[in-house]
Amino acid sequence: MRIDYGERIPNNVGLGDDRRLRRALESWQPRFLGWWQDLGPEGFQDVDVYLRTAVSVEPGGWAHFGHVKMLDYRWGIFLTVPEKDRQIGFGEDKGLPVWTQVPGEHRADLRRLIVTQGDTEPASVEQQRLLGRTAPSLYDLRNLFQVNVEEGRHLWAMVYLLQAYFGRDGRDEADMILERHAGDPDRPRILGAFNELTPDWLAFYMFTYFTDRDGKYQLASLAESAFDPLARTCRFMLTEEAHHMFVGESGVKRVVQRTAELMRDQDTVDVRPFGGIDLGTIQRYINFHYSVSLDLFGGERSTNAAAYYNAGLKGRYNETKINDDHLLSETFQLVPEWRDGAPTMADVPAINALNECLRQDFVRDCARGLARWNTVLEEHAIITRLSLPHIAFNRRIGNFADYHVTPEGVPLDEEQWAEQCHEWLPSDKDKAFVSSLMQPVTERGKIAGWIAPPPRGIDGLPFDYEYVRLF
Ligand SMILES: [Fe+2]
Ligand SMILES: [Fe+2]
Repeated sequence: MRIDYGERIPNNVGLGDDRRLRRALESWQPRFLGWWQDLGPEGFQDVDVYLRTAVSVEPGGWAHFGHVKMLDYRWGIFLTVPEKDRQIGFGEDKGLPVWTQVPGEHRADLRRLIVTQGDTEPASVEQQRLLGRTAPSLYDLRNLFQVNVEEGRHLWAMVYLLQAYFGRDGRDEADMILERHAGDPDRPRILGAFNELTPDWLAFYMFTYFTDRDGKYQLASLAESAFDPLARTCRFMLTEEAHHMFVGESGVKRVVQRTAELMRDQDTVDVRPFGGIDLGTIQRYINFHYSVSLDLFGGERSTNAAAYYNAGLKGRYNETKINDDHLLSETFQLVPEWRDGAPTMADVPAINALNECLRQDFVRDCARGLARWNTVLEEHAIITRLSLPHIAFNRRIGNFADYHVTPEGVPLDEEQWAEQCHEWLPSDKDKAFVSSLMQPVTERGKIAGWIAPPPRGIDGLPFDYEYVRLF
């Protein structure tokens, strides 16, 4: 199933045969490009970047690499190949054929799910738009831009669904996604974590590790949807998303490695005078980005999530691989809650705990990267370990929104929290220090002093390849 690059909008959905849809998307395209120029990566619109472009949607061998200007990137609409005789995998319609159109009774809910997902895609590009100015190497600069163009393509993916399946209001929603902006006081992005600026590269790696991983779980649960075009879109998006999380995981790992080298060579935990980021600061960044990403999953008990599941709109992570009735009529799930002044666990009907179920999969996944980062510390004979804070730490949404705990989960009153939270979350001083390290390194093969070089380059090329041609 090759992608047609002869079209103005590359696609594998037969856009050439659908005049109405093609015209709708072609009239949206200049608005997208205008948005990219105004709010995409600042200062790098004219440089050649070594980017990968999808050429096929078959698993494996789908990418083509080459130098392109970002504005010339071939954003388009790519869905995975339809699965023959695919059936609805869960909920009340389990076992029936999947839908190729939107059923009237689920129209509003599906639209809301697609708009919420679609809104996050351009948001992260906006949040990261200034980072190009302070990249630690050409390799990292290229990775940032790869993530950015792919988030742009994810927006195309969601806008295609809105325009192809939701008529007039779908077109309006597609326009509104370009009118809301990250951090805009009047028209902010829908979800809280997508309104903060990503101020420095440590925050960027944390964002791609934790927040893009939330995206992975949301996409994976939509990839189970009975609405087949949504499922197929999300399946292809997941292949791109994997690279974003690689950028995050390997980025943090390289920061940890550099810190560990400095600790060993200088025989001190205080690596700041030597231009490294101390482990305390790295831990505080983890605490912040992890806790805000936990909030993105929503409340622990959710009747909306139950309704989406019953209707077949949004499943669990790897729904089809789970061995149960896929109805959740008699199962229970342990959910964290606040009782008698402290966090504890309670058994609730699994159908009401689907947000929490997805969040717990996410937590387990997050822990894997932490283990890899800690291996670096171990290899350098450092006894400190990085960790994920308690599930109730620094939460704004759900059962813990009104309470405070330490990263270990010990309850605190308001006053104690106000006194001590700067020990656990990045302080203004931490951010100013990290920001002072953010000096651009644009010479081939060179890298900033606060991060280790990657063990290998992109697409089999060496680290000192000219991934971005600046002049
Ligand atoms: Fe995305
Ligand atoms: Fe992403």
